[in-house]
Amino acid sequence: MLPLALTMSTSMESFDADSFIALQTEEMRRVVGGERAIIAVSGGVDSTTCAALTRKAIGGNIVCVFIDTGFMRKGEPERVKRNLARPPLNLPLKIVRAQESFMKRLEGLVDAEEKRKAFRETFYSSLGEVAGREGCKWLVQGTIAPDLIETKSGIKTQHNVLEQIGIDPRQRYGFKVIEPLASLYKPQVRALSRRLGLAQETSERQPFPGPGLMVRCVGAVSRGKMSSLKTATAIVEKELKDLGAQQYFAAIVDNNPREGSETDEFASNLSRTLHIQGGLLKIHVLSSPATGVSGGQRIYGKMAAMVLSSTLQDRAGEMLEESVVVCRDFIGANPAYTRLLLEIWRLTKRKAYAAIVRAVETSDFMTADVLRIPWKTLIGVSTRVLRNCLNVSSVYYDVTPKPPATIEFE
Ligand code: XMP
Repeated sequence: MLPLALTMSTSMESFDADSFIALQTEEMRRVVGGERAIIAVSGGVDSTTCAALTRKAIGGNIVCVFIDTGFMRKGEPERVKRNLARPPLNLPLKIVRAQESFMKRLEGLVDAEEKRKAFRETFYSSLGEVAGREGCKWLVQGTIAPDLIETKSGIKTQHNVLEQIGIDPRQRYGFKVIEPLASLYKPQVRALSRRLGLAQETSERQPFPGPGLMVRCVGAVSRGKMSSLKTATAIVEKELKDLGAQQYFAAIVDNNPREGSETDEFASNLSRTLHIQGGLLKIHVLSSPATGVSGGQRIYGKMAAMVLSSTLQDRAGEMLEESVVVCRDFIGANPAYTRLLLEIWRLTKRKAYAAIVRAVETSDFMTADVLRIPWKTLIGVSTRVLRNCLNVSSVYYDVTPKPPATIEFE
């Protein structure tokens, strides 16, 4: 990364979008000169704001591309292309179809970090090819401060961090990198985006991981699993849109539940607290390793799913509330687990995958509480997921706050 000089303090109170724009555009012009620069735009707030800033700095020397990894939401490449073409951006976007390369590169990988690294390699190789074809010596990217902090501290590999961890982009992919937003945090990027006149739909957009739905496809990635995840994502995003969550989405996991005797005591305690007759509440264990946080570090653990007998369905809302309350105690007492789920609906015939609905309230994304969603709404969402995702037979609601879980599934 080039040391783009930043002389201002970037805390939210003192963040001055106008000075930031003036300083960064001048610096970009100085560094890039009359050369061409490529920028990969995903449609998220960071990359779109970065594209708007770059456009202001170097005008027509910018080439915008959307690397279609196959892990974006349904219809996303076309939607992003339409948005970018509109004022104030007026940027033509080239869609680079790279789905096959990503799917091939991820084959056989199950570990979340290995998947992230394979994603990074494929992403930049694709970008390097297009940059070469387009005669671009520079890559401008919207890396922000948390991306650098999380990658360097080993929390998780953000795909857009290269030089800071010893990868030389020029030697490996053929371009040099500029990161004008690297000192900013999300609220500042949103402020910058508003100042640059971007639509509210972009400036206030809920976060979406750089590697897209690959992150929410827990364990191995396959075409069938990804296709169901896309369908479930569209359903969950539509149905939960107006409930006040800062982040809400679907994840998909391999459906391999078993009854776990290690959780029997928890099931009996919870039954006692709720005055539920013994045996009506069961705990299933899903062995897909899901991410959690402990002592500021990422950890992986099992998922425990509470399964209510059908006679308890009318008390499910109450169960949801109670399970959020006891979740931290449960994970504290059972450190092999990182998640507690509540089963919403299950078909009799078991299929390959289970879908998980996640919705959280958070102000800083460092900690998050579980959104209390009316049970009727969750039933509605599950019914639609089960009807439309033909390889899914169970739907759960994640009742784990952050910590001990992360917001995303991985
Ligand atoms: P976790 O899952 O660590 O996520 O609690 C915290 C916030 O970061 C978002 N997130 C990402 N954002 N690239 C991003 O740009 C990523 O790889 C990534 N992974 C997680 C997550 O959606 C949440 O808002």
